[in-house]
Amino acid sequence: MKIFIDSADVDAIKEAADTGLVDGVTTNPTYIAKSGKNFKKVVEEICKIVPGPVSAEAMAETADGMIKEAVEIASIAPNVVVKIPMNIEGLKAVPVLEKQKNVKTNVTMIFSSTQAFLAMKAGASLVSIVLSRLDAIANESIVLVEDAVTIKQNYGYRSEVLAASMKTQNHVLECLRAGVDIVTIPTQLFFQMYRHTLTDTGLEAFRKDWEKVSGGGKPQS
Ligand code: E4P
Repeated sequence: MKIFIDSADVDAIKEAADTGLVDGVTTNPTYIAKSGKNFKKVVEEICKIVPGPVSAEAMAETADGMIKEAVEIASIAPNVVVKIPMNIEGLKAVPVLEKQKNVKTNVTMIFSSTQAFLAMKAGASLVSIVLSRLDAIANESIVLVEDAVTIKQNYGYRSEVLAASMKTQNHVLECLRAGVDIVTIPTQLFFQMYRHTLTDTGLEAFRKDWEKVSGGGKPQS
């Protein structure tokens, strides 16, 4: 399963990318606004840090407007993927962008299994299912996760299923069990996954015991 970072914070993305385990980045207008930087500049900076796909969102409301905007956004860097809204105009724009304009698309704000199906049928490279916002209204995101993977497998759609709005390690586990292609996660959750109390206490005990037998010498740093 690929790991993307869900953020437009350049320093945080760099720190995560330095681990070697990050495959891409997703942004949205809220993250860009939080960065306090110009949209084009921040997308350019992120694309230089991460060679994998970097999603940046088109905000036009008509299919023609989205196509024009998406082509401009895609010209920022070769690894840009354009986020397109899950609606009728968005799904009209997707096949034109994918087949005629050579622009990869990521259909975003998918909250139902039938929306996921339509986005796959339209030919999106990525379909973004949104987990925690569903959980917040007592709809179990696990159903959407499992359905999206099943729909893709049953019909051989080429879209990658991307799980977004991830807040907990349990969300990551749900995705791993279901066979999701990509999770996009905040850096805090990414670094949390490295940690376990038993790992910390176990390694600390080994370090102390090592000091006892290594003549006071410290292990090489
Ligand atoms: C995905 O498409 C969204 O941009 C993002 O993952 C939303 O995350 P949030 O629900 O934490 O705002």
